[in-house]
Amino acid sequence: MFETRTKIVVFITGVLVVTIVIFTYISLYQWKSRIEKLNVDSIRILSSTIVRSLSYAMEKGDTSVVRETMEKIGEEPNISNLFIYDEKGEIIRSLDREKEGGMIDPFYLNLYFSEENTAYFPEKKLYTFITPIENKKECQSCHINSGINGILGIDFQPIWSISRLDTNYIILTNAVGILIIAYIAIWTIISTFVNKPVKQLTTMMEKVEQGDIAARVDIETKDEFGMLGKSFNSMMDRVKEMQDEIKEYNDRKMEKIERLASIGQIATGLAHEIRNPLAGISGAIDVISGEIRIGDPNKEIFSEIKVQIDRIRKTVTDLLMFARPSEPERKRIQINNIIRETLLLVQQHKDTEKIVFGKHLSPELPKLYLDPNQIQQILLNILLNAIQAMPKGGELLVKSFVDDDGDFCSVEISDTGQGISKERMNRVFEPFYTSKHKGTGLGLSIAKRIVEEHHGRISVSSELGKGTCFKISFPLQKSVVRMKRGEVRSTTG
Ligand SMILES: Nc1ncnc2c1ncn2[C@@H]1O[C@H](COP(=O)(O)OP(=O)(O)OP(=O)(O)O)[C@@H](O)[C@H]1O
Ligand SMILES: [Mg+2]
Repeated sequence: MFETRTKIVVFITGVLVVTIVIFTYISLYQWKSRIEKLNVDSIRILSSTIVRSLSYAMEKGDTSVVRETMEKIGEEPNISNLFIYDEKGEIIRSLDREKEGGMIDPFYLNLYFSEENTAYFPEKKLYTFITPIENKKECQSCHINSGINGILGIDFQPIWSISRLDTNYIILTNAVGILIIAYIAIWTIISTFVNKPVKQLTTMMEKVEQGDIAARVDIETKDEFGMLGKSFNSMMDRVKEMQDEIKEYNDRKMEKIERLASIGQIATGLAHEIRNPLAGISGAIDVISGEIRIGDPNKEIFSEIKVQIDRIRKTVTDLLMFARPSEPERKRIQINNIIRETLLLVQQHKDTEKIVFGKHLSPELPKLYLDPNQIQQILLNILLNAIQAMPKGGELLVKSFVDDDGDFCSVEISDTGQGISKERMNRVFEPFYTSKHKGTGLGLSIAKRIVEEHHGRISVSSELGKGTCFKISFPLQKSVVRMKRGEVRSTTG
């Protein structure tokens, strides 16, 4: 794996190399065409000068001057050959005398007839330039009836050459220089401003990964890395706070679980010890009170003893249920029937005189796969809680319906009682939380556990002084699927 720094440097160097090469070629190409033009322009001037000199020599009618002039011009190092030929291709004059009277290379004749005047031979690295020599009045004494006196051809080596400019060398030196400087600059910048802080951050993150949440980075710069460092540090501060909070919460929870576990054990033991003698006492009271005549003041005392015994029995039963909950015994049931039965039971209660009962039970509820006794126990507790919350009377409404999403069957029990404050609302499902003198505070925590064992959910909404609404919901789909499968017992509800 390469470091980011190496990757960036290699990338930028690569881009620079490609760019420099491309620009070098473009500029070489431009230089080449400029130089070509320069060569052609120079030779055009040279050629017209030669033609003028030759015309001058010829005007004098002295052909030896023409040869002399040609030889003088031919001494120029760039000029390889100088010759005059006619329109039929016969060489009239040439620096190489032996060729005079012979035929010119057809290339030159074609060049003349193509009306071009310049050509380049790459293999010989030579330019050729031809100029027709006009037949002026003064020429006609020797050159009769001819359109032109001849065609002057000059072969010459390029005067200007790109190699003479040493462009390649200059560009190459510049490119290497720029690359080395760029490489050093980028390397230094990345090392100082990127690698150092990134290294610090990764080292600290590794420490955190190994469990050292006290690790903090020390990046003083005011750039993005500085901000990243600050965010990292404040994130770690928050993590530390949260860890402390979680630890505190866990400690509290453990303490509670331990306390509840020991309460559960004591409760189970105690419940068995209390229940049997209690049954004996209750039976004895029944016998004794049966023998007491009506009107005897002791009769009232005995019935009060009976009420207190029932209270003790309920508390013991709740404690047992809490400490050692029994397995639900599920059946296919119509929850509306259980609601009706429980309402009838509750309405026998002496504190219900000032309470108006109402019920809206959906006739379209499917049957559910639930433990009827446990469901009745939940309903009973919630209904009694509602009644106890309305000592001066009020309205108690029970509704059953299928939720809008069609997944749950719900029962809502609402009252117009004293309501529950927000702070207490979080605690009503906690075991042993009660606001009543005679309560155990186990009713709702048992209800919650039973509902959850049936894969349902229980929730409460309340407004202080206005009333409370408890909602319990059981999943419909699972019950339906189970009913269709014809399963008799299962752990899900
Ligand atoms: N409908 C309600 N209106 C107002 N407060 C309620 C209502 N239902 C429950 N509560 C509050 O929640 C507490 C816990 O209820 P829960 O049924 O668990 O225990 P409890 O009723 O106090 O005791 P127990 O059920 O053993 O008689 C109650 O003491 C009460 O303060
Ligand atoms: Mg209760």
